[in-house]
Amino acid sequence: LDLRNVKGQRRAVEAQIQQAADLILAGELVGLPTETVYGLGANGLDKEAVAKIFAAKGRPQDNPLILHLAGAQWLPIYCKDIPIAAYSLARKFWPGPLTMVLKRANVVPDVTTAGLDTVGVRCPDHGVTLSIIREAGVPIAAPSANLSGRPSCTSAEDVREDMNGKIAAIVDGGPCAVGVESTIVDLTCTPPRVLRAGGVSVEELEQVLGGLLVDSAAVTALEDGQTPKAPGMKYRHYAPKAPVTVVTGAGDVSAKEIKKRLEPQDGVICFSEYVHQFKGYRVEDLGSIEDKQTQAQRVFDALRGFDGTDVKRIFTQCPDNRGLGFAIGNRLKKAAGFQMITPKEKAVVLGLT
Ligand code: TXA
Ligand code: MG
Repeated sequence: LDLRNVKGQRRAVEAQIQQAADLILAGELVGLPTETVYGLGANGLDKEAVAKIFAAKGRPQDNPLILHLAGAQWLPIYCKDIPIAAYSLARKFWPGPLTMVLKRANVVPDVTTAGLDTVGVRCPDHGVTLSIIREAGVPIAAPSANLSGRPSCTSAEDVREDMNGKIAAIVDGGPCAVGVESTIVDLTCTPPRVLRAGGVSVEELEQVLGGLLVDSAAVTALEDGQTPKAPGMKYRHYAPKAPVTVVTGAGDVSAKEIKKRLEPQDGVICFSEYVHQFKGYRVEDLGSIEDKQTQAQRVFDALRGFDGTDVKRIFTQCPDNRGLGFAIGNRLKKAAGFQMITPKEKAVVLGLT
């Protein structure tokens, strides 16, 4: 750290915050860092600005956007009929990777919520973006900054790759600390319902809420004709160019299964402990099998890592469903279009006494 230049650096950051806020208020699109993934931000109250988001991403019009707020003090301005639980959750998890679906107030335009009478709101845990929201003084509508269907962006470089030439600016806030999107919980129903797994685990939510349901769209593939409560869950998502197959089960079991199936032009996403078993193949290291935080940070990068290579098929290991593993596994399975292999594990022999 060059102490002589601290003041200069601070001035530069402050100037960037001001510039980004000005662009937002002028109706432009700005790529913004958050703790989960990079967002593609616009003034959430400005219909024309929000329409530009759908155009830049190639996003279906029926897929609502999340409003990013400066804090829980903004809830009563943009939402109504707010249950106490919303404030309990905000106190515990905001700023942070939790989106709450609440009844929307009339100031929120139809295009932001895709015509729904509810709105998704969250307060992101990133100092620069929080300052931009405060400076702009408006809620920032922001989907993940990837092109629709692609893996989400966890660096400014990823955003440039997908959005170059389509947006006014990208604020580089470094790599995303969480790496998977926010958990979405619908508080307009009883009991509350998890619509998307994400950075806050279901176990953590249960501790605050008690009763809680997990929507089937957050877990499995949809049957034909089913419509999920989070419209975005029905679209193919996170997909690299090569087809993906998820191999579930304990690390040594899935590694063995993948080895059995590999052909020369295949690629592998695996835990660090197994990288050495796939010499000669293109491998993306997901992080240690013990370290779900790193796996979450790595998962989209790993999926993007095969684009621009000649890999024909991708096989991936998958963490168990506990804690962050639920969200990481969900991203991998969605990237695979739920193409999965569940190898038979040896039955555990219980000692008879
Ligand atoms: O972590 C995140 O949530 C990131 C960062 C940028 O904040 N944002 C993000 O936005 O993941 P997006 O647009 O990629 O995903 C938002 C999801 C979609 O599946 C959408 O259908 C759902 O949230 N959603 C938004 N508003 C909703 C509402 N009122 N009711 C139900 N689902 C909603
Ligand atoms: Mg997205």
